[in-house]
Amino acid sequence: MITMKRLKVVALMAVLGFFASVVSVKAQDPAEGEQIFKNNCTSCHAATDEVVIGPGLKGISQRRPIDWLVKWVHNPQAVIASGDKYAVDLFNKYNKTQMTAFPNLSEGQIKSVVAYIDAQAAAPVPTAGAVTAAGAAPAEGSANGGMMQYIMIALLLIMVLVLVALLSIVSSLSKLASVSPDSPEAQNVPLLKRLAENGKKLAANSAFKTGAALLITLLIGKATIDAAYGVGIHQGYAPEQPIQFSHKLHAGQYQINCNYCHTGVYKGKGANIPSANICMNCHNAIKRESPEIQKIYRSLEKDEPIQWVRVHNLPDLAYFNHSQHTNVGGLECTNCHGEIAKMEVVQQRSTLTMGWCIDCHRKTDVNTKGNAYYDKLVELHSKDHKEPLKVQNIGGLECSKCHY
Ligand code: HEC
Ligand code: HEC
Ligand code: HEC
Ligand code: HEC
Ligand code: HEC
Ligand code: HEC
Repeated sequence: MITMKRLKVVALMAVLGFFASVVSVKAQDPAEGEQIFKNNCTSCHAATDEVVIGPGLKGISQRRPIDWLVKWVHNPQAVIASGDKYAVDLFNKYNKTQMTAFPNLSEGQIKSVVAYIDAQAAAPVPTAGAVTAAGAAPAEGSANGGMMQYIMIALLLIMVLVLVALLSIVSSLSKLASVSPDSPEAQNVPLLKRLAENGKKLAANSAFKTGAALLITLLIGKATIDAAYGVGIHQGYAPEQPIQFSHKLHAGQYQINCNYCHTGVYKGKGANIPSANICMNCHNAIKRESPEIQKIYRSLEKDEPIQWVRVHNLPDLAYFNHSQHTNVGGLECTNCHGEIAKMEVVQQRSTLTMGWCIDCHRKTDVNTKGNAYYDKLVELHSKDHKEPLKVQNIGGLECSKCHY
């Protein structure tokens, strides 16, 4: 069977090619360097010219010899203490900020980091990581970029293999179908005969054809619907923020009231994200030396607001008002946002779809206690309803309440 042989060769070559590409990428230093850099250095350094806490590291391989760099990263304080003029000058220039020592990084790993920085400088366009470097932490997507690439390559290869296999099956089947079961060839080979008979039957069976067509249509349809429903829904979205601000620490452990920072949440439409000045109420004294807190200082010095990444975001066509829900409705933040006080990084817990709003308006009783505004309504409502007054009864399902 020539087709089988050809198929095997193609498959073997594809698999070999795949492993070769993976191995060759793995053996390259910059990929490993990128990981190490992002895990250990981006809180203080960018791979560009930009100063974060420490100097931008672009061109570092030209500035310093590699053995100096290894010594420095292993123990910066020791290099400064040794009286190395370059190190001492740099240390003074950066207001005697101490760089963390990394005695555990091997020489090879440090070289990988340098290779990564060089590769970044050679790249024509800054990557997502470099763009966000102003706020230090790179976007999550770029860190996973390498892994994604392997997965994509693997998937592509599998798809090609499946396609090749299917094509060869189809061609074998059609060959078989053209062999007459009564022909001398078929008579000589009993298996071939049976296959030829069955193949003919199968090909002729219109129910089989319709079934296959239906199955394919259903699969494509389902994929399309899934994709369409996913559009605009960001449940679970938890972007990395420019400063590693923790609600678990501030709102959880230290029990700072939500309202202390989100000043609009009981009295306005928007909850507000606190300005750096609010942070300073405490951080002009607390943890001043922390690199994360230094970022707040820099924002104030440069008079540039901290670029927090927005998590929850309704489309413009919808109107949502916080005070209406928290103050008038008496809802807790957790009803809609989940346990923010336990989150290290804020995550969107609800879908924020129209269905979500409506569903709650159908189920939830209006908080009428102590609100004279509702007295008349409640009286009217209870005349012909047993159920307590729900949000839907006060217009919570009217299009115009939520749409401009
Ligand atoms: C806590 C902040 C911090 C971290 C984390 C940090 N550095 Fe530094 N780094 C500095 C500072 C600040 C300087 C400037 C010298 C000084 O003040 O000691 C510096 C200087 C350097 C220099 C010399 C730069 C030049 O222009 O000559 C190199 C190279 C360097 N760091 C590499 C690294 C690498 C690689 C990592 C990660 C493995 C790292 N640093 C992590 C703060 C940091
Ligand atoms: C010390 C100040 C502070 C306190 C206290 C605080 N927050 Fe925040 N909150 C922030 C900052 C800063 C951000 C923006 C960065 C982020 O998303 O982590 C934020 C973001 C959020 C977001 C996401 C905003 C968006 O972009 O969609 C929600 C929701 C939130 N906070 C709810 C709460 C709740 C609920 C509490 C009380 C349990 C609370 N916060 C207490 C400072 C605070
Ligand atoms: C009411 C006081 C208060 C306010 C306001 C406040 N913090 Fe904090 N913050 C603290 C305390 C207390 C700690 C814990 C310090 C410690 O671990 O010793 C802390 C720790 C932190 C840390 C961790 C620092 C580290 O390296 O461990 C970050 C980052 C931080 N805060 C950012 C912010 C930001 C950003 C704001 C403004 C949106 C803010 N804080 C507002 C009291 C406050
Ligand atoms: C009824 C549901 C609901 C409740 C209750 C609620 N939120 Fe929200 N919150 C939302 C929605 C929806 C958004 C997105 C608003 C938008 O994009 O216009 C949001 C956005 C936010 C934001 C981002 C900034 C802004 O104003 O858009 C913060 C911060 C926030 N909420 C904090 C809180 C805090 C703190 C509480 C409790 C005191 C709270 N929320 C209670 C639904 C709710
Ligand atoms: C957890 C339940 C809950 C969710 C989720 C919720 N709401 Fe509400 N909503 C309420 C309650 C309770 C009230 C009644 C407040 C009051 O007593 O006036 C209300 C009232 C309203 C009103 C005023 C209705 C009127 O006739 O006075 C509007 C507008 C509104 N919500 C919009 C929204 C939008 C938009 C969303 C989704 C983004 C949403 N709500 C999600 C519980 C919810
Ligand atoms: C309780 C609030 C609420 C009510 C009442 C409401 N909507 Fe919405 N609607 C929303 C929110 C929030 C969104 C945006 C989220 C989304 O796309 O699911 C939205 C989105 C939409 C969209 C855009 C959908 C899209 O995919 O972009 C349309 C159209 C719409 N609503 C029509 C209506 C009509 C018509 C009514 C009255 C029968 C109505 N809405 C009543 C909250 C509401």
